[in-house]
Amino acid sequence: MDVAALLQEAGKAQQISYSPYSRFKVGAALLGKSGQVYTGTNIENSSYGLSICAERTALFNAINQGEREFQAIAVKGSGKGYIYPCGACLQVLAEFAPQLQIIVGNEQDEWEDYLLSDLLPQAFKLSSQEG
Ligand code: THU
Repeated sequence: MDVAALLQEAGKAQQISYSPYSRFKVGAALLGKSGQVYTGTNIENSSYGLSICAERTALFNAINQGEREFQAIAVKGSGKGYIYPCGACLQVLAEFAPQLQIIVGNEQDEWEDYLLSDLLPQAFKLSSQEG
């Protein structure tokens, strides 16, 4: 996997963030098992609670295009530090990719990587599911 290329896609998505309320731009790039990359940005709303994070936008973009298995997600956010996916996004990502690799990048082109199971060791899961 080309981590730098995935982070670059996250950076491009970050630039189109709609975040007039927080002014915090986030971009995510999700790599499917097929090799296809799906991007997402955060999209806010004047009714703040209806806003959606970049990671879920990327995942829903992918699911909507028929991909259901994923290798990795790269995330970039405003500011100098790393942005870690929020708990809600980790739970939603775990639905499809409990072993997902999570790459966080900063503005200095440095990055760290984790497994989803490091960040959310006990994701909620129904014992019987239909799919
Ligand atoms: N946000 C994301 O897009 N991803 C995260 O992992 C954390 C937060 C967004 C939501 C909101 O638009 C803004 O960042 C500030 O919370």
